[in-house]
Amino acid sequence: MARASPIFLCSACGGETLKWQGQCPQCGDWNTLEQAAAAQRPRAPRVPLAPPRPLEVITAGRMERLASGQEELDRVMGGGIVPGSVTLLGGDPGIGKSTLLLQVAAHIAGTSGVLYASGEESVAQIALRAQRLGIEGTRVEVVAESGLEALVELASQRQGALLVVDSIQTIQSGSVGTSAGAVSQLRECTAELVRFAKSTATAVIVIGHVTKEGTLAGPRMLEHLVDTVLYFESEAGSRYRIVRATKNRFGAVNELGFFAMTESGLREVRNPSAIFLARAPEPAAGSIVMVTREGGRPLLIELQALVDRMRFGAPRRVAQGLDANRLAMLLAVMNRHAGLSLQEHDVFVNAVGGIQISETGWDLPVAMALASSLQDRALPNTVICFGEVGLTGEVRPVAYGEERLREAQKQGFQVAVVPRENAPRRPLEGLRVIAASRLAEALEAIFSLSR
Ligand code: TYD
Ligand code: MG
Repeated sequence: MARASPIFLCSACGGETLKWQGQCPQCGDWNTLEQAAAAQRPRAPRVPLAPPRPLEVITAGRMERLASGQEELDRVMGGGIVPGSVTLLGGDPGIGKSTLLLQVAAHIAGTSGVLYASGEESVAQIALRAQRLGIEGTRVEVVAESGLEALVELASQRQGALLVVDSIQTIQSGSVGTSAGAVSQLRECTAELVRFAKSTATAVIVIGHVTKEGTLAGPRMLEHLVDTVLYFESEAGSRYRIVRATKNRFGAVNELGFFAMTESGLREVRNPSAIFLARAPEPAAGSIVMVTREGGRPLLIELQALVDRMRFGAPRRVAQGLDANRLAMLLAVMNRHAGLSLQEHDVFVNAVGGIQISETGWDLPVAMALASSLQDRALPNTVICFGEVGLTGEVRPVAYGEERLREAQKQGFQVAVVPRENAPRRPLEGLRVIAASRLAEALEAIFSLSR
């Protein structure tokens, strides 16, 4: 019989090689290959192969989704938790992953069985947290267990609708010789949980820690194994939390769910479009509000610009939350097509709230904020604006114009300066829309307002 030869697994991407190398040939990371016995390779599925059947005779079966009790979370997951699905929830330590899932577990336990397994905290600690959340009276079953086999056994006996595994990094399978958190462990444990979910129609939600680099600790490959990947994010120092779907087999990706961390757990933010908007009551030069789109819905954000006479050297161009190259382009267009020269000025622009705007709709509002700061004239604070600016000084339309306008109307804005093609077909009550097709025309229009 041939001797089982060792293989090497990369601790970053999970790739396999037959001989040790300094650099992983698959992901290019250095010093990440670890020896593993060949027996640790993923085994062939133990279930007997089912004969293939034509799609037309297969019924989708029971696909009724579980409501998590948090509409924002249901929205991100595509309308609730799908039975038999496996979801990975990633995020920085302390952001609120355990809190959110304990709240979800408590809600679902009202109607179906729920098992909450934690390898991180003792049952007493979980009970303490439940007390703080005001959900200590619910029927969530809690177990402090880090052995995978025992956990799957227990969950199979319970036949619940939901299994929460608090941190995949603390779960350990006896069939793999490495310690918890190693790549081979993560892969084996996740694969086993996927098998469990698919064979019992229990929904499984797995928590995963995120490394400093912002990826799920160790292996990106976990993302391939599961159905849905959610990331829990937060702006530094903010009590707002955003859940983002980066992969979803049962819904749209890049959906966002908004939450706020409170004294008694996470509370969903029902009307998030203005959470980044906390403006001073008095209009100030260099400030304007734009409507952007993030995660499938409109978001109002204040943009600020400061233009200052250059003291020495080359002029500075600093952009926070916006693309600096695009800003340089915009400055050139303003100079050439709107007669506003900022060549002898330092220019600073900022998207307030620490948010990153990756679309082009900020061109026009930033041009206005810059002009406002340069002339030291405040724009009325009832104005909103969006639009792309082209190199020939034309104002170009952006996607979802009407939806953005309706959101501005809902938030009580009275005037909107927008690209001509984004002007609504029917007038919007309470919102005067000024449509412009050239940058100079748009600037002219907005400054005539504050006259
Ligand atoms: P936690 O859910 O333990 O984070 P994770 O599981 O992602 O590591 O959240 C812990 C943080 O949340 C902690 O800093 C305290 C805070 N928190 C509240 O502000 N209010 C609460 O009701 C709870 C339970 C936690
Ligand atoms: Mg936790």
